[in-house]
Amino acid sequence: MISPSTLPQQDPIHITVVYEGDAYELDTYEGEYRNLMMLIFDSLYTEEFGECKGMGRCGSCLVEILSSGQTLDPMERNEESTIKKMTAPRKDIRLACQLLINSSLKDIKIKILREYQ
Ligand code: FES
Repeated sequence: MISPSTLPQQDPIHITVVYEGDAYELDTYEGEYRNLMMLIFDSLYTEEFGECKGMGRCGSCLVEILSSGQTLDPMERNEESTIKKMTAPRKDIRLACQLLINSSLKDIKIKILREYQ
């Protein structure tokens, strides 16, 4: 049996999410959630957020990156084409389901975009 003290320590990943004018401070760690969409869906119970459950096709998890101290993982073609269907492509608009929970999200501040849905 592994005791909690023998488990590797992970730095928390702090994320600020702006949703309908309110800012929510969320803490997670690598591996707790598959991606940013799952963290937001589970923490904020946002309606109609993440409808395709992370397939990168519905665009319901569109977010704007307000600030980020890290370089985010690059966009895959699937993500780019879904965003193009919804809005003019900008490098600060991403699909939350395509952003994996890892150190690149540390101290990121994002806004959930509802106006494109
Ligand atoms: S959950 Fe559908 S595109 Fe992200």
